[in-house]
Amino acid sequence: MSKKLLLKNDHIPNINQLAVYRQHGGYAVLENTLKNSNPENVLEEVKKSGLRGRGGAGFPTGLKWSFLARPEGVSRYLVCNADESEPGTFKDRYLMERIPHLLIEGMILSSFALGAKTSYIYIRGEYFYVARILEVAIAEAYAAGLLGKNIMGSGFDHDCYVQVGAGAYICGEETALLESLEGKRGNPRIKPPFPAVAGLYGCPTVVNNVETIAAVVPILELGGDEYAKIGIGKSTGTKLISASGHINKPGVYEIELGLPVEEFIYSEQYCGGIRGGRKLKAVVAGGSSVPILPTELILKTANGEPRLMSYESLGDGGFASGTMLGSGGFIVMDEDTSIVKNLYTFARFYHHESCGQCSPCREGTGWMEKIIHKILDGHGTMQDIDLLWDIQSKIEGKTICPLGEAAAWPVAAAIRHFRSEFESYVQNPENIKDIKHYYRLQN
Ligand SMILES: Cc1cc2nc3c(=O)[nH]c(=O)nc-3n(C[C@H](O)[C@H](O)[C@H](O)COP(=O)(O)O)c2cc1C
Ligand code: SF4
Repeated sequence: MSKKLLLKNDHIPNINQLAVYRQHGGYAVLENTLKNSNPENVLEEVKKSGLRGRGGAGFPTGLKWSFLARPEGVSRYLVCNADESEPGTFKDRYLMERIPHLLIEGMILSSFALGAKTSYIYIRGEYFYVARILEVAIAEAYAAGLLGKNIMGSGFDHDCYVQVGAGAYICGEETALLESLEGKRGNPRIKPPFPAVAGLYGCPTVVNNVETIAAVVPILELGGDEYAKIGIGKSTGTKLISASGHINKPGVYEIELGLPVEEFIYSEQYCGGIRGGRKLKAVVAGGSSVPILPTELILKTANGEPRLMSYESLGDGGFASGTMLGSGGFIVMDEDTSIVKNLYTFARFYHHESCGQCSPCREGTGWMEKIIHKILDGHGTMQDIDLLWDIQSKIEGKTICPLGEAAAWPVAAAIRHFRSEFESYVQNPENIKDIKHYYRLQN
């Protein structure tokens, strides 16, 4: 289970430079594809690979590409979502920092398949130094005839630009991203129409995550069928996981989908176990938006099966006992962690990042933050826990974009699995003096 497709060369010094990337086989897939294939075949291989979007929702990439409208004489765009603002997620940053040409090669190949003459990499403002790395790599690619007119003599023209955002989480939502790219405030659009029909500047657009686009290179290298043999069931291929929290070896790991969660947490090859030999308490497996699971449910499903790092296995049991693979932001918490305190950090974040267009999200995120603060401040009541549950339940499915759900799910899961911890804060306020002090300072 240690197959590496995306990060197989990340250890090579200067692999960010075009010459080194090419010495190790870089752009060979592009050359072969432009010479010997066509856009329809590329789309077919991506469909066969079973690749699912790595930005969080896991939507099949080939299917998304096949939805792209193709009216005569209208431009089509590919937009790479490099916003990566989901707390706990830093895998795209690593990939762009270390191997920018892998993303650029994937951008050209994907654009070839989609018939897009222009593509954009929209990157969050805080990653300004990564944007510089990408710009240098793009300039190298232009100088070598890998971007621009008549790429490698194939007749295919393509321009790729980097656009730096201002650092708003909501600009990772694909339609808010498009608004921002057009120079407007990053407010999500009402869908439909979906970007595949009316996206950037009203034109058909595909928005894909950095890792999704980079994965097109190994898919075309191996062939879709071979790629689909890697992984497990409908979770094909490999996935980058950003592992953080109370583990011995935080970092970005490429895993073959289907790896047991227990092996990921405890083996030396990956997280190396819990810091200081403490016990595992809980894991947020896919970025801050996905439901937190306690030890017994993250290591095994409710049926007692070993939990695997896959879309299906992590989702097994629905939200009653399961969670989501999400963006692969794997946050590990040891036995000393306060779930309520952790939840407060998330709640503050979502309240701050809500764009404010929908009342349930705008008001609900604020209420949830205030109630959790009240509980942490030693003034909570049992009714507050029920009120918190009630508020989160009124957000899901009632908003323009999924940020509302992203804010509600962590609250629901924390109460579902750790209600006694909320109750103990309410019943024993004298035990939380240190936390009171900490949060008073912050507010
Ligand atoms: C609030 C919010 C933030 C998001 N942030 C990101 C992000 O930073 N990166 C990303 O790729 N997708 C993010 N998404 C998902 C995108 O809307 C979109 O589904 C994704 O870019 C599609 O790419 P994929 O199919 O390759 O996963 C976010 C969604 C929401 C609702
Ligand atoms: S759900 Fe929240 S972030 Fe999304 S559009 Fe509505 S108010 Fe804005």
